[in-house]
Parts: sequence; structure tokens; C-alpha cells
Amino acid sequence: MLAYSTYSEAGGVGKTTTAANLAVAHARAGLNPLVVPLDPQDGNLSRLLDVDERRTEPVDNLVRHMIRRPKGDFDDLVRTVEGVDIIPEHNMLSDLTEYLQREKDQAEAMGEAFGMHAQLLRVLRDAGVPEKYDVLICDPPASEGPHLYNAIHATRSLVIPVEPSAKGQAAVQGLESLVSGLQDQLDVDVGVLAAILVGFKNTRDQRTILNEIEYSVPEIIGERTSLMEGCWMQQCSAFKYVREYRERRRDYEVDTLAQFDQIARYLEQEAGLEAPNPPEPGDLEHEVMTA
Ligand SMILES: Nc1ncnc2c1ncn2[C@@H]1O[C@H](COP(=O)(O)OP(=O)(O)OP(=O)(O)O)[C@@H](O)[C@H]1O
Ligand SMILES: [Mg+2]
Repeated sequence: MLAYSTYSEAGGVGKTTTAANLAVAHARAGLNPLVVPLDPQDGNLSRLLDVDERRTEPVDNLVRHMIRRPKGDFDDLVRTVEGVDIIPEHNMLSDLTEYLQREKDQAEAMGEAFGMHAQLLRVLRDAGVPEKYDVLICDPPASEGPHLYNAIHATRSLVIPVEPSAKGQAAVQGLESLVSGLQDQLDVDVGVLAAILVGFKNTRDQRTILNEIEYSVPEIIGERTSLMEGCWMQQCSAFKYVREYRERRRDYEVDTLAQFDQIARYLEQEAGLEAPNPPEPGDLEHEVMTA
């Protein structure tokens, strides 16, 4: 299984947009992706892909499973949109730290161990996710804490969207120490599969930043404010947005879709995974065959 978290220390650089569109790119190539977003704030992936309507209701959700108090089967948490399985974010994620801490205290009082950062991995393994899915994508919030740690523990690999600005540059420079810090903290190996430049305008400063990135940069995504705003408005991927909501095709937007396809192929290849039915990159008429 290919597994990765979209991560960057900087907020608002395109982690969620990248996670959602890569998931759709894997799905349209005939793979079976599961997306596990973990951001307690509004404007998260569940909002983008329109599966967030029950987030305030007292329904079963991932947090309950992580603290060993599920109200139902894991499979019943799953929603499917655009060929992608998603575990919707729930408001209980806001208090994840407290829930996990309480469970840990209780376990320890009984003489049991409870790894606060290993619970997502446990839930996914118990549910047979590594056997059932080809790809796992986590979209944690940028801030350090159990949301991020659980995501990284479960995926072990990162895809890093980078904003080509001075702020983004600082984030890239801090990345290596961040990755080694995460490794020490979690006691697992963490790899960086790719860095993706998002919002590139090809200025001289931006080219300097690009040259300083030590990770593999499979694609550089241009500034696509109108396309991405449209996706948030219509609550869908960029693929669906261009296919269903654009009255005419803009070549540069189709090129961006092709880039998501190509990044997905790159990541699959890194994991030794071959998509059964890869589209011509950016092909919106591609026939998706579901297994
Ligand atoms: N290529 C792009 N060009 C222009 N704007 C973009 C691009 N990709 C994403 N955006 C916009 O940037 C904003 C932030 O995107 P997104 O929510 O994906 O970032 P994030 O890193 O997940 O943010 P957060 O840290 O809040 O979780 C959104 O308004 C989105 O529409
Ligand atoms: Mg986000």
C-alpha cells in the first residue's frame, strides 16, 4: 500500500487541496484510495469533498475508534465520493488530545500500555485497511500534536506542498530537522516522497527557492486561484470542477489536472504500485473502471 500524509509546517499552502486531488487521481487510474483527514477546523478536506454534514452530530466517528469506544463498524464510517473512500472529520477531533490522554491514564492505571500516537495505525490495521486499499492518504493539521503524530505514524511518508515564498522557504529549510524530530519523537523512520510547489509564478526568488529544495519535486503547480476557489465553492475535486462546472475548457487548468495525474503516478511508482487503468494525464473523458 502506498501511504502518505500531506504535510507542511506552514498553514494554507495547499495540503488539503493536494490530498483531495491526488486521491481522485489515484482513483481514476483504477486504484482504491482511502483518505483519512484529521483537521478539527472548518475548511478541511471533508468540507472540500462535501462529506461534512454530520460533523456536529453525536454519530460514530474515527475519534471513538481511536479511543476504543466505537459505536459501530469501521466500514460504516466510510463515505465514497468521486471514487474515493473518506472517513469524514468530526468535531470530536477538536478534543482528540484530551480523549487520548484520558484513555492512556486509564490504561496505565490498569497496568496496560496505550500509545497515544499509534492509535490511528491500530484502527486502520484492525479494519484491514492495508489489505483492502491501494493508497492511504492522511491530511493532518499543520500544528504539532496527536493529530499530526497519528497521521505520520500511520503513513510514515510525507508529501510536502511548498509555497514558493520567503515563508515557504523557511518552512523548507526547517524541514529536515522537523523530519528527524518526528522520527525521534515517534521512533519510526519517516521518508519524504516528494515536495510539490504550489502557486508558482516563476519569479527569480521562486526559482531560488526551488533550487534549494533537496527533495524530489515531481511537479510545479502554477497559481490556480480561480480553479481552487471554484472547487471549494462547489465542494468537489478540480477534476470534477473542470468537467462539470466550467463552461469552457482552459488549457492551463487541464494542464494542472494532468499534473495531479502525474504526481499520483510518480508516488505510485515510488511505492512499487502499478495503476491498472491510468488515464492520459488530464484526460477528462477517461472511463473509470471500478474493481
Ligand atoms: N495552485 C493554487 N493556486 C492558488 N491557490 C491555491 C492553489 N492550491 C490551493 N490554493 C488555495 O490555497 C488555499 C489553501 O489551500 P488548502 O486549504 O489546500 O491549504 P492547507 O495547507 O490544507 O491549509 P490549512 O493549513 O488551513 O490546512 C485555498 O484557498 C486554496 O483554494
Ligand atoms: Mg488543510
